[in-house]
Amino acid sequence: MPKFYKIITYGCQMNIHDSEKLAGMLALRGYVENDDESLCDVIVFNTCCIRENAEDHAFGNIGALKQLKKRKPSLIIAVGGCMAQQAGEAEIIREKFPFVDIIFGTHNLDEFGILLDRKLSSNKKIVEIKDESGKIIEGVKPLRTSYPNAWVSIMQGCNNFCTYCIVPYVRGRERSRELMNIYAEVNVLVMSGYKEITLLGQNVNSYGKDLGDGTDFATLIEKLSEIKGDYRLRFMTNHPKDLTEKLINAVAKNEHCCHQIHLPLQSGSDRILKLMNRHYDSADYLREIEMIKKYMPDCAVSTDLMIGFPSETEEDFLDTLKMCEKVGFSSCFTFVYSRRRGTPADKMPDQVPDDVKKDRIMRLVECTNEKTRQFSSRYVGKTVRILCEDIDKKKNMYIGRDEYGRMGYFPSSRNVIGEFVDMKVTSANGISLFGEIE
Ligand code: 5AD
Ligand code: SF4
Repeated sequence: MPKFYKIITYGCQMNIHDSEKLAGMLALRGYVENDDESLCDVIVFNTCCIRENAEDHAFGNIGALKQLKKRKPSLIIAVGGCMAQQAGEAEIIREKFPFVDIIFGTHNLDEFGILLDRKLSSNKKIVEIKDESGKIIEGVKPLRTSYPNAWVSIMQGCNNFCTYCIVPYVRGRERSRELMNIYAEVNVLVMSGYKEITLLGQNVNSYGKDLGDGTDFATLIEKLSEIKGDYRLRFMTNHPKDLTEKLINAVAKNEHCCHQIHLPLQSGSDRILKLMNRHYDSADYLREIEMIKKYMPDCAVSTDLMIGFPSETEEDFLDTLKMCEKVGFSSCFTFVYSRRRGTPADKMPDQVPDDVKKDRIMRLVECTNEKTRQFSSRYVGKTVRILCEDIDKKKNMYIGRDEYGRMGYFPSSRNVIGEFVDMKVTSANGISLFGEIE
């Protein structure tokens, strides 16, 4: 009888990739994934704390396992990641959920396998929260489950301390992987048939600053252009304060790089951007859009926007809407500001009332949806290249993504998962395109 595991992941792409690493460590120990919790021997929660709702969600789901653990005491429950890393949080988890066996922080993620071995041999509760991490550990093999896409982490941590954000406190300072290790990983992935590689970091634009040898993100993009093959290269996420012309030029010149840039604006109000500690204003941002379009006129720019930051007035909010109109983002992730303990914004006066936040997020989503609709409808009647990723069982159609990050749906009489196909767009709905392949 095989041993089964399930990993429940919250939050961003970085966490999803971290869960692939956790899966790799479990697979190495003979565990097989199983969605049915009642059959599992190990259940891991890879948590997120960027917004309160992600935390509430995790707490609810951990609590729901109490009965299962009672019925099956041999089940090992582990809680790790960003939420566990927050100051004092491990103690809270320990008290609230005494049935949890392993608690580990972000800086202990790569040693989860060893913690599990220790738990199995000692049967003692394990709480391991390292304060800060040194160099990135190489050699943890992720178990990839998203063929033909592969994520490659190029750095960890963040030095920016945006005043609303908890990430720098739970992920530590920026640490970049050595360029040649990234090159080797991407090269092997392309040779093994992966068709889309996404480079990941909290702020990929500051890649290399800590290496001290002049390497920067543009150098990495140039180096990766030496890897031949039929594949796409993406990266996220960028910070407007660090986006350079050198990088945009390197992206434009690398034939594998998608003409899509995720450039979080957060707010259109210069006053709010200052309070957020973002180090750019709306004019700087618009100049960068111009620079991107100069090198790649077809480039799709997507963004993150937040409403309800402390003291945000109706006028500030209207500035955000104005920027949406001006830039015409291809897609937006929209967020309601969430107070995070220990961040400067949490202590700022004039927190925005919930009903005002509700009203603003609705108006923002209406505006951004309209822009996405406009962006996509321009493609009706045209042919786009789609990398087919999967079958959408509900729609009974193949599903993939175009260069600009939009979903493409189409019927096909043969299995085209993992292939690039040319799709003639017959209709568009928001970020989704529908069409036919030849
Ligand atoms: N509240 C709401 N959204 C947040 N983000 C980061 N911190 C918070 C917070 N406290 C958003 C930002 C960031 C994205 C990943 O999450 O928009 O770009
Ligand atoms: Fe958070 Fe700002 Fe760092 Fe992004 S750049 S992770 S928003 S502190």
